[in-house]
Amino acid sequence: MSTTPVKVAVTGAAGQIGYSLLFRIASGDLLGKDTPVQLQLLEITPALKALEGVVMELDDCAFPTLAGVEIGDDANTVFDGANLALLVGARPRTKGMERGDLLEANGAIFTAQGKALNEVAADNIRIGVTGNPANTNALIAMTNAPDIPQERFTALTRLDHNRALSQLAAKTGSTVRDIKKLTIWGNHSATQYPDIFHAEVGGKNAAEVVGDQAWIENDFIPTVAKRGAAIIEARGSSSAASAASATIDAARDWLHGSPAGDWVSMAVRSDGSYGIPEGLIYSYPVVTKGGDWEIVQGLEIDDFSRGRMDATAAELVEERDAVTGLGLI
Ligand code: NAD
Ligand code: LMR
Repeated sequence: MSTTPVKVAVTGAAGQIGYSLLFRIASGDLLGKDTPVQLQLLEITPALKALEGVVMELDDCAFPTLAGVEIGDDANTVFDGANLALLVGARPRTKGMERGDLLEANGAIFTAQGKALNEVAADNIRIGVTGNPANTNALIAMTNAPDIPQERFTALTRLDHNRALSQLAAKTGSTVRDIKKLTIWGNHSATQYPDIFHAEVGGKNAAEVVGDQAWIENDFIPTVAKRGAAIIEARGSSSAASAASATIDAARDWLHGSPAGDWVSMAVRSDGSYGIPEGLIYSYPVVTKGGDWEIVQGLEIDDFSRGRMDATAAELVEERDAVTGLGLI
């Protein structure tokens, strides 16, 4: 086992996602069983007592990989020296609440956290945003952290990617292991575009294997895009264990590499690829390695896909304009 612990900061640590995420990280699911991890957990002051209880449970698990836990309500203290920051803490969407309503509520959080990361995080910091609206929260944090390279900020669309894998596997009678090169384009919202036209099922083109455009348009895409809302409707609160699992998948692949012969979906700063406005945090197919990512280039985009990709980009432009109007970026 290496001796220097990796410092992983998690915000919203006393929340629902935190209750799954922290135990997965502490047990080695993110960095491996040979890498000690130090958890640095941020919460708002009223939630610190509950967080103390979670830390007691972490202690009681006696995870060999867990080198230590620090908690606090001051971002400048908690992010100090962090190598990886998973920004989960935010106000979750509840029944009847539109995502736009979240922009203002969450903008202040990500402004302050971007500034704190800029000041005190380690030079190799990587930042993954799970808290909604994730893409625009990442944009706010990125804009408020001018000294951190912009490619270090990503937002989570891996949950959508995983949801799409499961839906496609069920439809095609395959397993998720058989499916490669699936893409979520755009925003982590109902406008996202889950794209199977470049995907493969057992090495064959997924759209051809499905052979049913109506299913793709009327079933697959809406099921994946509205899954978050369906879970809220069923559970009365937003997805938690699956969101934690996707947060782990995304960070692990970012740091350790996406699977050979495949790619993953991750919302990253657009460089204009595929005609998407530069500077948006937009979900693309990416190949990752050693904490870096590259957008997969050269995919053919037909008119159907173009329309969907542009629609979700337009929503992100609206969100960007809204937070610009609020003075957050
Ligand atoms: P939750 O309400 O259970 O927990 C959120 C926690 O964040 C709370 O404990 C709260 O005290 C804390 N918090 C609020 N403001 C904070 C701040 N300034 N600093 C630190 N902590 C703060 O919510 P949850 O179910 O854990 O979800 C967290 C977020 O993740 C929500 O925004 C939710 O919508 C989002 N989410 C995203 C995805 C995705 O795929 N991107 C999936 C599911 C949920
Ligand atoms: C999800 O996708 O499960 C969450 O983002 C729920 C939400 O707040 O939309």
